[in-house]
Amino acid sequence: MYRIAVIPGDGTGPEQVREGLKVLAAVGAKCGFNFTTVTFPYGGEHYLRTGEILPDSALDELRSFDAIYLGAIGHPEVRPGVLEKGILLRLRFELDQYINLRPVKLFPGVETPVKGKGPEDIDFVVVRENTEGLYAGTGGFLRRGTPDEVAIQTSVNTRKGVERCIRFAYEYCRKRNRKRKVTLCGKTNVLTYAFDLWERVFHEVGNEYPDIERDYAHVDAICMWIVKNPEWFDVIVTDNMFGDIITDLGAMIQGGLGVAAGGNINPQGVSMFEPIGGSAPKYTGKNVINPLAAILAAGMMLEHLGEEEAAARVENAVRQVCARHLKSMAAGQMGYSTSEVGDLVVSYL
Ligand code: IPM
Ligand code: MN
Repeated sequence: MYRIAVIPGDGTGPEQVREGLKVLAAVGAKCGFNFTTVTFPYGGEHYLRTGEILPDSALDELRSFDAIYLGAIGHPEVRPGVLEKGILLRLRFELDQYINLRPVKLFPGVETPVKGKGPEDIDFVVVRENTEGLYAGTGGFLRRGTPDEVAIQTSVNTRKGVERCIRFAYEYCRKRNRKRKVTLCGKTNVLTYAFDLWERVFHEVGNEYPDIERDYAHVDAICMWIVKNPEWFDVIVTDNMFGDIITDLGAMIQGGLGVAAGGNINPQGVSMFEPIGGSAPKYTGKNVINPLAAILAAGMMLEHLGEEEAAARVENAVRQVCARHLKSMAAGQMGYSTSEVGDLVVSYL
């Protein structure tokens, strides 16, 4: 019996999460596990109605769950940054979810904009540091609003934070057991402090993993190779900002945000799983959004909880649905409604 905290959130988040929970219940029945959910109302709607973003009490309560399942956070009437910092980033930081794990996998039948590449070429995982870097919130203004204004935003890289992220990447690569290669994505030619640390730690820790090949690429070059030679990659490890950027690129080559899932992981604490796309306000309530990203996020949650067979079943069912049914991964163009896609996945479990 697992206890899952559910934050459906804004826009199409609730519709996506509904399908993910449908699939979880169905696969649980097959694999012999059960779960209870507690739903939390946080998001833009709740904030506009009550003025509350994420109370400390909720954060404490969330610590007691086995995992958190999140839909999407973001509301067109709320100023950018309020909900992102107040909910999503706060959860990642305060629950010390120091890894953002983002698989980039092209399923058969899914169209990729990268010409000449197929499922055998596009299958890698980005391990994004999730609590530091430019996201740490260190910085400030001087003389704000004057012609002499200064704005500073500092990238924070701690030895501990970098090391635990890099170690996770090696361990994950070993467990994944594909090409057994970890690529550090950095910018050692310009960010000569931050990525000097990253590179030293990459090799120091890498010495403990002689079975894993090491490679390095600058972030700009990696954007090029992800498009031109995605088959080179197995596990990419990088800082928070670069990880944010290259995983949207990754999402595009795997068929779009409709299928891109991620996990915010604290191996010693409570982890949170989410579709990486936003709240897609214009599709809200229309039953047209693609729920596969949320369903795959639920699959990642199962793997994290140790329900490996159930996780494999979910991924395989999604693979079948992509290969045999969906016309497109785009909202409104799937040839099926959101709930029908959820039902299809259930039928292949
Ligand atoms: C993501 C998102 C977030 C991020 C935003 C919404 C704060 O883009 O999960 O990638 O930048 O991390
Ligand atoms: Mn992002």
